[in-house]
Amino acid sequence: MAKEPNFICSDCGASSTKWSGRCDACGAWNTISEQKPLATSHGSKSLSGRRGQTIALTDLAAQEAEPPRTEAGVAELDRVLGGGLVKASAILVGGDPGIGKSTLLLQAAARFARNGLKVVYISGEESAAQVQMRARRLGLEKSPVKLASETNLRDILTTLEAEQPDLVIIDSIQTMWADTVDSAPGSVSQVRASAHEIVTFSKKSGIATILVGHVTKEGALAGPRVVEHMVDTVLYFEGERGHQFRILRAVKNRFGPASEIGVFEMTGKGLVEVKNPSALFLSERGKPTPGSVVFAGVEGSRPMLCEIQALVAPSPTPQPRRSVVGWDGGRLGMILAVLESRCGIAFAGLDVYLNVAGGIRITEPAADLAVAAALISAREDAALPSDCVIFGEISLSGSIRQVVQAENRLKEAQKLGFTSAILPHLSKRAAAPEMDLKQMQELSGFVNDIFGPRDGTV
Ligand code: TYD
Ligand code: MG
Repeated sequence: MAKEPNFICSDCGASSTKWSGRCDACGAWNTISEQKPLATSHGSKSLSGRRGQTIALTDLAAQEAEPPRTEAGVAELDRVLGGGLVKASAILVGGDPGIGKSTLLLQAAARFARNGLKVVYISGEESAAQVQMRARRLGLEKSPVKLASETNLRDILTTLEAEQPDLVIIDSIQTMWADTVDSAPGSVSQVRASAHEIVTFSKKSGIATILVGHVTKEGALAGPRVVEHMVDTVLYFEGERGHQFRILRAVKNRFGPASEIGVFEMTGKGLVEVKNPSALFLSERGKPTPGSVVFAGVEGSRPMLCEIQALVAPSPTPQPRRSVVGWDGGRLGMILAVLESRCGIAFAGLDVYLNVAGGIRITEPAADLAVAAALISAREDAALPSDCVIFGEISLSGSIRQVVQAENRLKEAQKLGFTSAILPHLSKRAAAPEMDLKQMQELSGFVNDIFGPRDGTV
């Protein structure tokens, strides 16, 4: 039987039996092409007919030594990299336009250069004069970083071969142009081919590579997802417009833990690391307010306290609004549903607004209980005590589940002067003796305890 043709979208990998201009799965244009089956010299489709070469197998124990690392000397950056820059590794830094990627990388380039690496910075977006102007503004004009403004990949690779740097920064991958591919810079095939060329060349030559990638409106790296697979480490540089905080988040790291974050502040003289983000995120808190709750979170290996704010108001429309900044909208829907069906607290006919203060984004389910507390507090117009932190995951059944690093969270809260905590039931005694711990197993019990008993369910 003749096999049906197979068409693959190079953006999301979805397959279909016919060609179309737009991928049904991800909506990208001009990304579908036919995937030809592998054919051997006999025309048979099986690989087993012809013998290949034997591959030398090795033991797990016979690993090479840890690859050498260089620290930037900026703790927030080194931690996200997993303890410094690994020799010959490939890193992708994604982020919205204007968020500060070029600023971050120019500052990092200068730091690495100061620590003995030979660094080349290639800008495809700005002229050399523009980058020099930024360097002057950042006070880095004396740094021994080599600079070029270029988009032709062949010329760039030839230059790198001659220069043999330790680190090359490509700003950005969407502006690079490989003359082997017949499409415009920024197109899916150009981005994929350029990233592949640069990464394979650099790995072979022992050069570490940092690629800058733009992010689309939907929050994904523009161009094919395959670039994420080609590199060892994927970092996102994020932040809210109008806030000075910027967060560098590791979403993939072959050389260290993922989900680590580094916190920076954008100032007139570039990015400055923030060593104690909890203190900063909470610094603007005033007296106890209904709808405001302090969540004791953990990002990667570090505890981080932040304020969750909720506002509940009668809705003028039949379809009440559910608006979230800094958290997952789907998760908010779930918490509202659990509050309604397990605790009898209905939000029908009410607009709900939820905001994580400071412009940071929380991804942990451990924030569930703090969000629930903020919602009830706003709805009942009852403020929680200002010396109390909250954390815990809520299940669909309305029980409060344990979360990781409870002790770490409590210690951070204690350090910042909080004296009580509402948290899931701990399996062992937490080492936070001076704190008043309210351990909760059920959401309904929590509601009764904190906001008073409720009469019946809906
Ligand atoms: P940039 O690094 O060009 O962003 P990206 O490369 O991600 O597009 O940063 C641009 C913004 O940063 C711009 O709005 C100005 C601001 N900025 C500062 O606030 N302070 C500084 O010292 C610098 C260099 C930039
Ligand atoms: Mg830039």
